Amino acid sequence: MRVLATGGAGYIGSHVVAALLEAGHEATVVDNFSNSSPLAVASIAELCGHRPQCVELDLLDVDALEALLQGGDFDGVIHLAGLKAVGESVAQPLRYYEANLCGSLNLCRAMQRVGLRRLVFSSSATVYGEPQSVPVTEDAPTGATNPYGWSKYMVEQLLRDIATADAGWHTALLRYFNPVGAHPSGRLGEETRGEAANLMPRLAQVATGRLPNATIYGDDYPTPDGTGIRDYIHVWDLAIAHVRALEVLAGDTALSAGVHTWNLGTGRGYSVREVIAAFEQACSRSLPQQVLPRRPGDIAAIYADPSRAERDLGWRAKRDLVQMAQDHWRWQQGHPAGYEDG
Ligand SMILES: NC(=O)c1ccc[n+]([C@@H]2O[C@H](COP(=O)([O-])OP(=O)(O)OC[C@H]3O[C@@H](n4cnc5c(N)ncnc54)[C@H](O)[C@@H]3O)[C@@H](O)[C@H]2O)c1
Repeated sequence: MRVLATGGAGYIGSHVVAALLEAGHEATVVDNFSNSSPLAVASIAELCGHRPQCVELDLLDVDALEALLQGGDFDGVIHLAGLKAVGESVAQPLRYYEANLCGSLNLCRAMQRVGLRRLVFSSSATVYGEPQSVPVTEDAPTGATNPYGWSKYMVEQLLRDIATADAGWHTALLRYFNPVGAHPSGRLGEETRGEAANLMPRLAQVATGRLPNATIYGDDYPTPDGTGIRDYIHVWDLAIAHVRALEVLAGDTALSAGVHTWNLGTGRGYSVREVIAAFEQACSRSLPQQVLPRRPGDIAAIYADPSRAERDLGWRAKRDLVQMAQDHWRWQQGHPAGYEDG
């Protein structure tokens, strides 16, 4: 297939593009590089021995987007481009809704115009808000607790409505749990600009002395060790699931039509303390820790029921927490400040 990957130079997108090429598909990266580097595309080329086409473009530029799709003869789109920092979305809701909602609207409109209606969308477990029970299935109630989460929720709804109006759309909503790690080769990974927001990139910054200590927000949750539990998934496992989802949408089974929602997680939760221990093992040093009060809006535990993805996509996350930490650390050591520092 010829696949367009929006946000294909980003953390998850670069792995998805590499997984597409590895599976024998062709990929075109579209990115405005607001949170990534063109060097990620060069790194994909080195890794895969084949350079994906790369177009610098902002999804808010609807004319440029349409022109690209008109000339592209694509078989499908994987839509990863967007802004993703929850805290930032609370402070800058307009910017987040514009990037995530308007960008997605523009993409759908352009796709509709050129008759391209096969789409895989990067959604998030944030659409479950505070789950009533775990593991969370795709049928659990949805909602959100911040503008980022609402933007994902709204785009999901937009895509369902489009597919209801036009049965020609084939859509996958992939709800990621907590992607971490890096490509096992150490050539692709997350570029963290400034202070990292998420746990594992923060641990990497502690291990390299850029942050003084690992912060644990709350150790009084009703969990075995008192710290919050999340479902961490290796980014390479996640990337492979995108390829499978697109292939299933392009197949000729009942699953190729309509809108499908798939949880992408391991189905196993790890506590903050377990993640710290795994990272300490990976980097062979102990990390100073500091316990702070719970953050507002944080929940005690969430992890996926990934059985639908296993059944429909024939996919299952294979890599465990130790491998996630090892691969993250390998990337961090090779690229202390991102691609330009590799
Ligand atoms: N990383 C996570 O923890 C996580 C969890 C759940 C869902 N997601 C979603 O997965 C997707 C990818 O996340 P990521 O972690 O790779 O983030 P990322 O920031 O590394 O990648 C997003 C990419 O989109 C590009 N981009 C942003 N706005 C754009 C625009 N208007 N036009 C063109 N390109 C634009 C950025 O430059 C970047 O390369 C996002 O939609 C995110 O919301 C991420």
